[in-house]
Amino acid sequence: MSATGIDKRLSPPDILARKGDVPLVVLTAYTTPGARLIDPHCDIALVGDSVGMVLHGLPSTLFVTMEMMILHGQAVARGLSHAMMVIDMPFSSYEEGREQAFRNAARLMRDTGASAVKLEGGEHMADTIRFLTQRGIPVMAHVGLTPQAVNTLGGYRVQGRGNDSGRVRNDAVAVAEAGAFSVVLEKVPAALAGEITRAVAIPTIGIGASADCDGQVLVVDDILGLFTPFKPKFVKRYAELGLEADRAIATYAAEVRARSFPAAEHLFGEAPPAK
Ligand code: KIV
Repeated sequence: MSATGIDKRLSPPDILARKGDVPLVVLTAYTTPGARLIDPHCDIALVGDSVGMVLHGLPSTLFVTMEMMILHGQAVARGLSHAMMVIDMPFSSYEEGREQAFRNAARLMRDTGASAVKLEGGEHMADTIRFLTQRGIPVMAHVGLTPQAVNTLGGYRVQGRGNDSGRVRNDAVAVAEAGAFSVVLEKVPAALAGEITRAVAIPTIGIGASADCDGQVLVVDDILGLFTPFKPKFVKRYAELGLEADRAIATYAAEVRARSFPAAEHLFGEAPPAK
């Protein structure tokens, strides 16, 4: 393992030990260059199933396959030497039962070198999470807005408002008690996210949740301004690389049409005569 640097990466116990400490920094990664960019700055690189929408133009994460996750996971692994790699279990790869979940989680870890899997769902996934964690598969859970359930939830809505807060709280407590080493809280009211963070013994990773969470996760293309179809309220743009790329490509196109590219410095002359 040392030849790959895998054993220098943070591990699930390292992440668990960060409960209540300096906030955990988590970003998505889908490619080797993307992983190299985030690795020095992040504690966790998440190979999210958002890859389907961000890189493949799919309408939701429901269309993402095991094969896509494995291909992107292998690419990300080549770019990491510090951050822990967590890989999403795609829709329909774990919901049938704990044996199916084990088989596919083990395949994701074996084929990519990920240290853990992430799966969506609260109380109803607790038995599966217990089964996996007792068999060597660390699990990051994901409750609140679970995008793979977009059809049953009726859209990408905030979860846990008003009377619904108990359901989301119970989900987080159930996955923590089942052995998850951390839990993503997506799109839940800030006060509830803070309350859950104080109630569970594992780190909470917020996305549209609260600065009180034990860490934050965002889609890297969102913060760089590369994924432009829409910008959720919880995203902060730290750069506008999409606009910058548009400017660069437009300039290239104009220079090609004007024959000002390539210029002399980009061209090769005759080889000097052999002596
Ligand atoms: O797929 C993903 O990128 C995610 C995070 C943004 C939480 O699940």
